[in-house]
Amino acid sequence: MKLLVTGGAGFIGANFIRYWLSNYPEDVVFNLDKLTYAGNLESLKGLEGNENYRFVKGDIVDSALVNDLFQKEKFEVVVHFAAESHVDRSILESSVFVKTNVLGTQILLDAALKNQVRRFHHISTDEVFGAIEEGENRKFKEDSPYAPRSPYSASKAASDHLVRAYHISLGLPVTITNCSNNYGPYHFPEKLIPLAITNLLEGKKVPIYGSGRQSRDWLYVEDHVKAVDLVLRKGKVGESYCVGGMSTQVTNLEVVKMICQILGKDFEPSVEFVKDRPGHDFKYVIDWGKINQELGWKPLYDFQTYLQKTVSWYRENQDWWKRVKSGQYQDYYLKQYGERQPALSH
Ligand code: NAD
Ligand code: TYD
Repeated sequence: MKLLVTGGAGFIGANFIRYWLSNYPEDVVFNLDKLTYAGNLESLKGLEGNENYRFVKGDIVDSALVNDLFQKEKFEVVVHFAAESHVDRSILESSVFVKTNVLGTQILLDAALKNQVRRFHHISTDEVFGAIEEGENRKFKEDSPYAPRSPYSASKAASDHLVRAYHISLGLPVTITNCSNNYGPYHFPEKLIPLAITNLLEGKKVPIYGSGRQSRDWLYVEDHVKAVDLVLRKGKVGESYCVGGMSTQVTNLEVVKMICQILGKDFEPSVEFVKDRPGHDFKYVIDWGKINQELGWKPLYDFQTYLQKTVSWYRENQDWWKRVKSGQYQDYYLKQYGERQPALSH
């Protein structure tokens, strides 16, 4: 099978490509990535020599490039991760979120339709459902109303609607997964967990927004990748599946406390309380009953154990994140591929 993965140099995309090529070594995976600040080819180190892996540097908003690639390569399956993904950045400047997440998705949908792909799988977020307020006991599920509250989640909600519309009105075979916050290896250290771990390893403080009583439904990235695999193989076309973790109700304060404990640091001197994020979503909790009942998926990795493993990964891979924090990772593309277009060099 020939797959196009968009955003494969990002956190989840890189984990997905590594997983896919080790579980389905006969498949051919193309990785289309613009290499924004969040794209890091060092997360895919070791795959460059794999005949079944190709990297294409390009923007999903570039319709000429996207159309040429689809026409030439005749992909059977598209797994669409590429997005601007950081809520705080979207509050500062939202135009690139609309461009990439909305327009980029529409350009891919058109190309997928024209070239009759067998499946277009869209990676989305639980943030499209808004926030669960303090004291509220509900969980997000597939039929929860869309109520995004940040420019990031609004752009992801728009992309979900487009994906569904291409299915209903144009017959494109799509599936969507809406997952909760992922954690694990190769996570860009601007997000809470990798930021906390790397700051503590550097002897810096961890910034906690507002009260720190907000909570996320932390999902180990490998559990997420396995859910996507299952949806690709067994999911019903036209359906969405919510994918969540096992860590419900762990507040940001508790997450940072756990990381401090694992690293043997005292909590109080290791954190600083900073101004809250505007419109800060209080809580996300996912009901993953549908994917469990229909496809047999459940998260395997409990938060305490896999947070420890994640901390160990960052301890053992200091080169990876130090080069991210210093910006050096951005030299890797030139060093690895020079000026030539890697996809055409195979
Ligand atoms: P990320 O920010 O780590 O990576 C995004 C990747 O997309 C980068 O490699 C970047 O270079 C690439 N990209 C960005 N704009 C592009 C463009 N215009 N053209 C081509 N490539 C482009 O993101 P992530 O955390 O890996 O998230 C992947 C997907 O999962 C996103 O769609 C995100 O909305 C969704 N998601 C993430 C989480 C999470 O916890 N990380 C949770 C729910 C949903
Ligand atoms: P983040 O990792 O940015 O993911 P998202 O906003 O998509 O959920 O943030 C996770 C939680 O951690 C969120 O409640 C905001 C909070 N947070 C901090 O308290 N300090 C930080 O430095 C960051 C990046 C996030």
